Amino acid sequence: SQQLELKNVHIRAGDQLKVRGVILHDAERFEIDLGRSADDLALHFNPRFHDDTDGAVLVCNSKAAGCWGEEKREINKPLQKGTDVKVRNTFPQLPLLPGGHEVQFPNRDGMDIISYIKIAGDFKLTSFKIC
Ligand code: GAL
Repeated sequence: SQQLELKNVHIRAGDQLKVRGVILHDAERFEIDLGRSADDLALHFNPRFHDDTDGAVLVCNSKAAGCWGEEKREINKPLQKGTDVKVRNTFPQLPLLPGGHEVQFPNRDGMDIISYIKIAGDFKLTSFKIC
């Protein structure tokens, strides 16, 4: 699986992030992380397809100083293996919007600038845009 990691970006309030790609046919999981560093994330957006507890589930979490916060799990999100996905986020209005559906997740640490982005896992990224 591929990975995109960007440091020293500068995404401010009102900026839009658009991610497009294909979820692999045999996907286990992928993630889109937004924050200040790998250790400080406002949002870890983590669709899983074979989670031990919930099977197909969207896991969202935050991370502060290297420690995960409390997971938020949603089981009825329209993310399917082998499909094309567009995810849009107008920062800091977390949630993201996969396929037009809203994902609610609070900006727990009140992060006002995103400087770190990681997209990784079983997802074939086809386009990425900050505008
Ligand atoms: C952990 C997993 C991490 C991250 C985190 C989210 O169990 O190893 O990759 O997804 O959950 O809470």
